[in-house]
Amino acid sequence: MISVAIDGPAGAGKSTLAKAAAAELGYIYIDTGALYRAVALACIKNEVSIGDEDAVKALLPEIDIRLVFFNGEQHILLNDADVSDEIRKENVSMAASRVSAIPDVRAFLLELQRSFAKRDNVIMDGRDIGTVVLPSAQVKIFLTASPEKRARRRVLQLQEKGEQADFDKILFDIVQRDYNDSNRKTAPLKAADDAITLDTSELTLEESVDRIIGIIKENTI
Ligand code: DC
Repeated sequence: MISVAIDGPAGAGKSTLAKAAAAELGYIYIDTGALYRAVALACIKNEVSIGDEDAVKALLPEIDIRLVFFNGEQHILLNDADVSDEIRKENVSMAASRVSAIPDVRAFLLELQRSFAKRDNVIMDGRDIGTVVLPSAQVKIFLTASPEKRARRRVLQLQEKGEQADFDKILFDIVQRDYNDSNRKTAPLKAADDAITLDTSELTLEESVDRIIGIIKENTI
């Protein structure tokens, strides 16, 4: 099996690029952030405070998360309910970043993530895929872009969906999430020593997709 690990900060374009590369190369795309988002949503729905680690831990056995694929699109089921849209809300983003710092939550999701790579050729995106989840991945890419570029892209995405977008608030949240994700004790966001770093700040979407596919092809022949 071939595994491609794509890590990087929030809003670097990991999911868009990983999805496009997976479609082109015939790999299964796995968005691991969705798993952390589902745990965060479970906490919100059950009124469990994310600051209360013991309460979050106690909730884990009640959480059943499954990834299913409809027409090649990943959907996430939380205790049998499709929460694919609900987990994208901004309040869930910040909650996911906080819940992902809890070591028991990371341990809870680790085997689930590894099980996907045992079954299929995968492109998996996240924060610790190349360092912790799939340290033997054949290809590791660390995707990044400046916080301002990432915030600008997020604003455009929201506007396309007809939603309100406040650039300053989005930029603030991105910087805050970068800090949380990079400074937690367990499996922080960082490039694996053998990762190839790709900065997309000055690249168009098409150029970024071409670069990613090029890197994967060069490293899997
Ligand atoms: O990629 P995302 O923004 O959907 O991820 C949501 C949060 O989950 C992110 O702030 C950090 C966490 N996460 C993580 O800690 N490890 C991963 N492999 C993926 C996401």
